[in-house]
Amino acid sequence: MSTTTEPRVIRVALAGCGVVGAALVRLLRDEGPRIEAVHGVRLEVTRILVRDVERPRPAPLRHSLLTADVDAFLAADADLVVEAMGGLDPALRIARATLAAGRRFVTANKALVAAHGAELAAIARRTGAGFDFEAAVGGGVPVVRALREALAGAGVRAVRGILNGTSNFILTRVSEGMTYDAALADAQRAGFAEADPSRDLDGRDAADKAAILAWLAFGLDPARAQVERRGILPDPDRLARDAAAFGGVPRLIAECVERPGGIAVVVEPVVVTRDSLFGATRDEENAIVVETRWNGRIRLAGPGAGGPPTASALLGDMIHPAPRVPACGGPEDSAPVLAVPDDRSHRWIVSVLGESPDSADSRGILAAAGIGIDEWHRGGRELRIRTAPCPREAIARAVAGLEAAGGKPRLARYEGTC
Ligand code: NAP
Ligand code: HSE
Repeated sequence: MSTTTEPRVIRVALAGCGVVGAALVRLLRDEGPRIEAVHGVRLEVTRILVRDVERPRPAPLRHSLLTADVDAFLAADADLVVEAMGGLDPALRIARATLAAGRRFVTANKALVAAHGAELAAIARRTGAGFDFEAAVGGGVPVVRALREALAGAGVRAVRGILNGTSNFILTRVSEGMTYDAALADAQRAGFAEADPSRDLDGRDAADKAAILAWLAFGLDPARAQVERRGILPDPDRLARDAAAFGGVPRLIAECVERPGGIAVVVEPVVVTRDSLFGATRDEENAIVVETRWNGRIRLAGPGAGGPPTASALLGDMIHPAPRVPACGGPEDSAPVLAVPDDRSHRWIVSVLGESPDSADSRGILAAAGIGIDEWHRGGRELRIRTAPCPREAIARAVAGLEAAGGKPRLARYEGTC
């Protein structure tokens, strides 16, 4: 008597065959036999949506699978739709139609999940469809499933991390002397950057991911997260020099933290020591720390961008039994979880250009805003100050004063051993 069982066949329609989609097709070829043997699942791609069907694809696929017609794509014979296209149109239309038809929808698109995740989750709950987005946050780092499942009972108090591989790659490289332009070009060539890289550089990509984590950890509707956001622009090399003056390195850090009355979500450059967890997170790696009431501090780290890690996260969702679809907060009639400003005090590093030699003006402006100075350095015409802890409004007032005085101030939070 044979003990073998037939694998469960899952027919897959894939929207997008660029960096991530093409890597997924390659992974399906290379990992398919192992997945069938271990998980008893055979994945068969039945349709692929692209913009240009004639463009060469770095993936082993039959040309006849390709279409540029969204309606033809939606009519494909498929149990599961994977979206690796990006943007909201036609991704949102595909997501709504897939979930409304009770089919499973798996996406890498953080912009889509941040803007419409709660709506899509509501459709999925109504129709019983699966809605998964591990690849949308952390690239290959399994933080979405950790928050949705393993840490669901841990009493999360805060989630903080490096969530954008491109900006981390640039900050790592400029700290080692590479020019910003060369570092950005390398990140784009490696497939880490968004189609519109300004989303990486100005912090929008990290803000979308932070909003998704705030949803999973605290039930805050990601579309209402009100993220306080500053990216690494306009001059990441200056951020690196400012950090080095205080013995650190800059990192773009996203945070979702419980505060009185709600959840504060922040994305901004932070100066950390080189040997801290975030300081040691190099290039396109991501690192995330989840602080919990009952399970201490959980640290997750690994490749945060690029085709193969992201495709492996998609593939994990595709073969995993669909988990509980996340809700927003408690029962439908309970008060929503609110977004609140970050009311904590922090140390800050402020640098000012073109200072007069005695630097009294800038330090006077900080003092007038009620901000103490822990340490300061002068290098040429650059003055760099590390402040005593003070609230965000105070430092914002001081920066406005420095701007008005023509000092072209640059601000980073100082955390040291974060
Ligand atoms: P990409 O290389 O630009 O690929 C996008 C793909 O979608 C291309 O195949 C493109 O077709 C297709 N496409 C785009 N707009 C379309 C439209 N209107 N109609 C039909 N096809 C369309 O992007 P990617 O880097 O693979 O990223 C895809 C998604 O994954 C994005 O949401 C991104 O944020 C997310 N993501 C990316 C990474 C990463 O490291 N790259 C990591 C995690 C998540 P053509 O090829 O014909 O132009
Ligand atoms: N552009 C994104 C990044 C891709 O650099 O992190 C991974 O989401």
